[in-house]
Amino acid sequence: MDGPVAVVTGGGSGIGAAVSRELASRGHYVVVSDRDADAAASVADEVAGEALPLDVTDIVACRSAAEGVAERHGRLDVWVSNAGVSRMLRFLDAEEADYDFTLDVNLKGAFFASQAAARVMARLGGGIIVNVASMAGKQGRVPFLADYVASKFGVVGLTQAMAFELAPHGIRVNSVCPGFVATPMQVRELAWEAELRGMPIDDVRASWVADTPMGRLETPEDVAVAVAFLAGPDARFITGESLAVNGGAYMD
Ligand SMILES: NC(=O)c1ccc[n+]([C@@H]2O[C@H](COP(=O)([O-])OP(=O)(O)OC[C@H]3O[C@@H](n4cnc5c(N)ncnc54)[C@H](O)[C@@H]3O)[C@@H](O)[C@H]2O)c1
Repeated sequence: MDGPVAVVTGGGSGIGAAVSRELASRGHYVVVSDRDADAAASVADEVAGEALPLDVTDIVACRSAAEGVAERHGRLDVWVSNAGVSRMLRFLDAEEADYDFTLDVNLKGAFFASQAAARVMARLGGGIIVNVASMAGKQGRVPFLADYVASKFGVVGLTQAMAFELAPHGIRVNSVCPGFVATPMQVRELAWEAELRGMPIDDVRASWVADTPMGRLETPEDVAVAVAFLAGPDARFITGESLAVNGGAYMD
């Protein structure tokens, strides 16, 4: 294996699939990981990489996944913790199960998947981790997603804490904060928000475009190139950063 080896969690769809394609186009051998084994296999075929079925809420499986990649390839250069879920509902209606569903994947999953990668990277002498947070990780002015907001603020804080502790091991850790990205997750959110607001889906979509100064929905590829930058040599002195990639929809 000549190029760097990268693992992308949630790589079977949306942003994760675009990140897998972008890293492959830049010479990475990509391990496309997803809890949906068929989706992972299809993207892995496309990028001439390999599929790794993995549910990031399974901590033991995260550890053996990271170890397995290092054993098979002798290296683990880049890990992208991208797997995430959302479900819209009013804060006043949220139950413990709703909170657990979101936090288990988005925060606990990112925590232990990225930890599994970091343990291997520390042993091998370094590496790069990118967590996929959200603009909802920097502002709570987001309707019907309180548990998601809490999880993504957590990812931003986790990124800083990891960056601080892992720098002496030669590991850089950053995150990206996308805005309104056109993916299957967005299709679900458009329908939920339309129902909760009692308005047509097209009007919800138009309001999201109106909230984006650059005047269009974000594409998964817009996110993928930012992840590839953070995972590449031009970001060599950047760590602990949570990079807004949102067309100006939220500026901090
Ligand atoms: N779409 C957006 O507008 C948007 C905006 C900001 C941040 N994000 C974040 O980007 C990431 C990707 O979102 P997307 O829009 O591509 O969503 P998506 O639903 O299209 O893809 C998510 C992928 O993650 C996988 N996944 C879900 N739970 C998993 C688990 N427990 N273990 C492993 N894989 C799992 C799914 O099978 C799916 O393939 C998420 O972390 C999401 O929160 C999305």
